[in-house]
Amino acid sequence: MRHFLTLMDFTKEDILAIVDHAIKLKTNPKKLLHDKTLAMIFEKNSTRTRMAFELAITELGGKAIFLDSNDLQLGRGEPIKDTARVIGSMVDFVMMRVKNHDSLIEFAKYSKAPVINGLSELYHPTQILGDLLTIKEWGKEKDNNVKIAFVGDSNNVCNSWLIASAILGYEISIAIPENYNINTQVWDFVTKKSEISGAKISLFHNKFDALKNKDVVITDTWISMGEEKEKENKIKDFAGFIIDDDAMRQANGDAILLHCLPAYRGFEVSEMVFEKHSKVIFEEAVNRLYVVKALLCFLNKSL
Ligand code: CP
Ligand code: NVA
Repeated sequence: MRHFLTLMDFTKEDILAIVDHAIKLKTNPKKLLHDKTLAMIFEKNSTRTRMAFELAITELGGKAIFLDSNDLQLGRGEPIKDTARVIGSMVDFVMMRVKNHDSLIEFAKYSKAPVINGLSELYHPTQILGDLLTIKEWGKEKDNNVKIAFVGDSNNVCNSWLIASAILGYEISIAIPENYNINTQVWDFVTKKSEISGAKISLFHNKFDALKNKDVVITDTWISMGEEKEKENKIKDFAGFIIDDDAMRQANGDAILLHCLPAYRGFEVSEMVFEKHSKVIFEEAVNRLYVVKALLCFLNKSL
């Protein structure tokens, strides 16, 4: 049994197989998970992830159970390992969106069902699967390479994009403020993996350098869920990091903009640039459904 806590545990072949299967399921839906059950535990808000997982299992012939962590005994202090031994023995899959990645690791240790990361502060792997599908559909993968710029905070989406690029051998430039760092474990992984895959990973503290010659521009909110108290400081830290017309002009002429959403116009992206790229951004959001379907089938060995 395999869990899906971070893309680090998956090979290039695994990731490409999931994306390819998502393309097939998008045009040719099949009920491949008849009567299978999925528990979805949320410690944070969600629109896309909740919709994607609930619809995915339902359209595959199974059933989802939505659980707000505060409604569970978990919210009153029941240990994660006890919750995992109960829920993980009753269902076929567990999806968790957690405040602390260690909760996912602990749950997975005691769960009999595969555990999927629906976002932690460190990683957002199903987002990257949806982005990969979108990049493929928009023809931005050329000669097995994608030229990517990520401009934003160095947390979940950024980390998962670094990991995916390192595994897949892509070219990615990250732009983060001077006083921000990449998580050491992530940096060690991508440095080692790039030597094997040929990925080109660069780190900048200025958006213009990162954006040059890129076909895919990615941004994310500067104030992630749970960081609301740091809002004022983060806005100061990220001054000059907005993706606006000037920024997009540095990228290649037909570059696409991806945003995991929700988007905060006037902060990480200007209203005009967001609306100009809204077609691809909302396709990216809907693609979560197809990659989640493919991921569930993959973990169930139904690919
Ligand atoms: N992108 C994403 O995960 O969206 P939600 O927070 O709405 O699930
Ligand atoms: N970095 C954002 C991603 C939201 C999908 C957050 O953690 O809130």
